Amino acid sequence: MVETLNRISHIQPLEKRRSLRETTINERQNLTGWYPFHSEDPSSYDLSFKRVLGETTISDLLKDRKAKGRTTFVLDVMSPGNILRGLSKLQPLDGGVSITLGDGRTHLAIERDSALNLSVIEGNILLKRTWRKAQEWIDQQGVDGFDLIMCRAVGGFDSIPINDDLYYYLLNRAWVMLSGQRGIILTQIPIGCWKVGVGEWVENINMIQGIEAVYGPKRGDEHPNEFIPATLKMIKSHEAPSTLPVVLPFGRA
Ligand SMILES: C[S@@+](CC[C@H](N)C(=O)[O-])C[C@H]1O[C@@H](n2cnc3c(N)ncnc32)[C@H](O)[C@@H]1O
Repeated sequence: MVETLNRISHIQPLEKRRSLRETTINERQNLTGWYPFHSEDPSSYDLSFKRVLGETTISDLLKDRKAKGRTTFVLDVMSPGNILRGLSKLQPLDGGVSITLGDGRTHLAIERDSALNLSVIEGNILLKRTWRKAQEWIDQQGVDGFDLIMCRAVGGFDSIPINDDLYYYLLNRAWVMLSGQRGIILTQIPIGCWKVGVGEWVENINMIQGIEAVYGPKRGDEHPNEFIPATLKMIKSHEAPSTLPVVLPFGRA
């Protein structure tokens, strides 16, 4: 399956690749225009992940980890790093890194971030080298993996092919970098992906030792203005497999 997926990541139409390049250049120069996603307020992430977080907030999850003597290294996939900055104001993080197409930070912002051990990786998540850079960053921190990996891509998902297997492949790339000390993944599921068999997948994956998964159905069918894509929370304990097993619906023939 991995081979097939490697191919998928290289069959992006030329048009899409061009538009990725354009977005990268625009983001580097802060030319994306009015962009609501530059807010540093983590409460917007809390809202997006409400179905899987319940009454807790992301900040509370991190505070709770600290209180238990655990580390708080966070990866934010498909993000310029705004929310990591906001989170670190609510409670100091041990460190954080975000993956985005274009890094538009000023020198001053880069210095401020470095002082907080915050970093940005410029790269396309469809390329292996982008994930390798994230792996190198967490290895340098001397821990077994990220304590929290988030992905609230919203429109960012438009840049990747809508494909269940590709989504699972990317989920697995995050999983392998997740700490086995109850590290947490919070991710949106691209609209159009994973339309069938989710209940069965959750049931099957939860039977595997060391893996906990909670699915949050999309919201807003009644009020389209409040549309929030489906989400997934996963927790990895030390006895969990290092890579995600392929279970239904992903293992379908
Ligand atoms: C709409 S913004 C969301 C930012 C942030 N997650 C938030 O919700 O505030 C989309 C982000 O996804 C990133 N992105 C889009 N396609 C990407 C790709 N193929 N690889 C990596 N990042 C990508 C963009 O660079 C941008 O940072």
